[in-house]
Amino acid sequence: MNDAELIENLKKYNQTRTLKILKNIDKLNRDKMVEQLKEIDFVQLKDLYKNISEEAKVNVGELKPIKSLNPDKMDKEEKEKYEEIGEDVIKNKKFAVATMSGGQGTRLGFKGPKGTFKIDVEPEPKYLFEIIVDTLQRANKKYNTIIPWYIMTSPENNDQIVSFMEKHNYFGYNKEFVGFFEQGELPLITEDGQIMFDENCNIEKASDGNGSIFKSMYIKGVLEDMKEKGIEWVYIGSIDNVLLKMVDPLLMGVAIKEGSQIATRSIFKNCPTERIGSLCIQDGKVKVIEYSELPKDMIEAKDANGEILFGESHVMCNLFSMKALEKISLQTLQYHKAHKKYSYMDENCKMFIPDKPNAYKFEYFIFDSFEFFDQISIVRGKREEDFAPIKNKEGVDSPETARKLYNDYWRKQNGRV
Ligand code: UTP
Repeated sequence: MNDAELIENLKKYNQTRTLKILKNIDKLNRDKMVEQLKEIDFVQLKDLYKNISEEAKVNVGELKPIKSLNPDKMDKEEKEKYEEIGEDVIKNKKFAVATMSGGQGTRLGFKGPKGTFKIDVEPEPKYLFEIIVDTLQRANKKYNTIIPWYIMTSPENNDQIVSFMEKHNYFGYNKEFVGFFEQGELPLITEDGQIMFDENCNIEKASDGNGSIFKSMYIKGVLEDMKEKGIEWVYIGSIDNVLLKMVDPLLMGVAIKEGSQIATRSIFKNCPTERIGSLCIQDGKVKVIEYSELPKDMIEAKDANGEILFGESHVMCNLFSMKALEKISLQTLQYHKAHKKYSYMDENCKMFIPDKPNAYKFEYFIFDSFEFFDQISIVRGKREEDFAPIKNKEGVDSPETARKLYNDYWRKQNGRV
């Protein structure tokens, strides 16, 4: 795109503020802005704006509960059979793990990538990346293998993460088995669909969500690399759950036995009003529906056994076959928008500092990939074994709650402390 074409596009896509800034700013910064603007996908920008102008879906359609397997209700032999199937895949080196660490971790408010956050667990404090390594190393030892580990970073935090891992010598993990890949970004836009510039004349962007992992794996050659290694199943997990069990032979065995391409470990809701996404069938498709979207009568509904009808919840413990990853990487997931406060450069090149939400950030969500499949397998996990997320600075899902869950779990497991 040359300069004239860029100006045409800015006019065509109604980027009036940017056009004014370009007139008012000095040449050096103008050139810097123009270079970045040439990289903007204006059609996508229009789609983003369309997304914010659309009314929220009022009708949730037909909602049905989803079936899951509860390991507590399996007999020992049945459970072992599933586990053997999964263990074979791991021992035969057909399994890899991917960790999503491209998020901004805004709620935690920690300066730096979340994986570099240190949590004060017993017997000694550990970084979140270190906890992931511990889990992988335990599995490597058990199954006599080295599991390939892929870490998704973002353009914002990639360099910090790579140098952190180098500095800590990968916490003893064989670095030949560790790969990093960057996810994408999407521009932020104001309520009237305008691109935003920060005080350094850079276009304001943010990571495009954890659902970006599929396309990013494809674009960055990760899927090719996995295929070359003979990988058939990939566990994709988050960086911030200190009880995450990425190497889950039971889950894999169930997926294989049930003929599913995707499997997830769920957590059952504490109470009907707990604010976590429910796994369900919506208009015939596998979906995760946010608490806020569930109609009131559905929130409280119980099944014949008195269990919460939409209690099965998605907590980012997902296993995908290679076939599933390849299929999803070619699909376009929907955008989810978040209304937030962002400062930006106004048309007179002065920074505008908002006092209320004024702009939108867009993300793809990993669970939107489920709907491309007729079924997924669900194995019910346990909160005290599987789910100790660090989201907030304090209160629920904070370092304090995660620390307690981690310590309690490990005290029971092997008497540490
Ligand atoms: P969250 O959606 O909880 O986001 O991420 P976050 O970045 O950790 O925290 P907030 O919302 O800004 O406070 C769940 C997982 O998905 C990853 C996160 O790193 C975490 O492991 N993630 C999220 C990405 O890898 N990329 C993204 O763009 C967003």
